[in-house]
Amino acid sequence: PRERPLAGRHVLVTAGPTHEPIDPVRYIANRSSGRQGFAIAAALADLGAAVTLVAGPVTLATPPGVHRIDVVTAAEMAAAVAAALPADAAVMVAAVADWHVAAAPQKVKKGDKPPALVLAENPDILATLAQGLQRPRLVVGFAAETERVVEQATAKRIRKRADWIVANDVSGDVFGGEANTVHLVTADGVESWERLPKAAVARRLADRIAAALVLDPFD
Ligand code: C5P
Repeated sequence: PRERPLAGRHVLVTAGPTHEPIDPVRYIANRSSGRQGFAIAAALADLGAAVTLVAGPVTLATPPGVHRIDVVTAAEMAAAVAAALPADAAVMVAAVADWHVAAAPQKVKKGDKPPALVLAENPDILATLAQGLQRPRLVVGFAAETERVVEQATAKRIRKRADWIVANDVSGDVFGGEANTVHLVTADGVESWERLPKAAVARRLADRIAAALVLDPFD
C-alpha cells in the first residue's frame, strides 16, 4: 500500500499570480503560471494530506483530491487563506502582486496623456500568516530572485518569520517552464537541489514537509 504520512493533516497552498484591476478591462499582475504550486498541492495530496489550494487566475486543472478556491486579487487571496485556517502547514507559492491600483469604476479612455496609476500596498499574506494567532506549525514561503538568490532568501526567511524559504533563481526560463533550480533555506542552513522537473521539486518538498510534521516531538 502507498504510504500516506500526511493523512489527517491539513495543508494550505497558494499558487498562481494575482490580478489587480486598473479598470473593468485592464489589470496588473506578476508573472506566474501556477505550475509549481499546483504540483506541490498534488504531491501533498498524494501523501494523504487534506489540501486547500487557493489559486489565482491560471489555466490549470485541479489536481485529484485537492480542494481548490479560486481568487483574483491579493485581497481575495488573503481572505481565502484566513478563512481556510487552521492548517498544520502552509506553502505559499503564489506570486502575489505587491500593489493594487486605485481602480477606476469605468473603462479609462485614451486621452492626450497616459493616465498615472496610483498604487497602494497589498497585504503580505505569508508574513501575516506566519505572525498570526493561528500560525500553522510549518510555514514555507517561496522567493523568486534574479540575483544573490540564497542571500536574499535567507533574509526573507527571518523577515517574514517563515520556517523555510524555497528560493528559486528566475533569471533563466523558469516561468511557465517544466524545470526549476531551487535552494531550500531553513534554520539549519541551505540545501541546493539539482535542476529538477517541477513535479520532482514538488515531491521532494512534500516528503520534507511530511518528515517535519511527523517527526515533530510536540506533535
Ligand atoms: O517578498 P516576496 O514577494 O519576494 O516574498 C515571496 C513570498 O511571500 C512567497 O512565498 C509569496 O507567496 C509570499 N507573498 C505573500 N503575499 C504578498 C507577497 C508575497 O504571501 N503580498
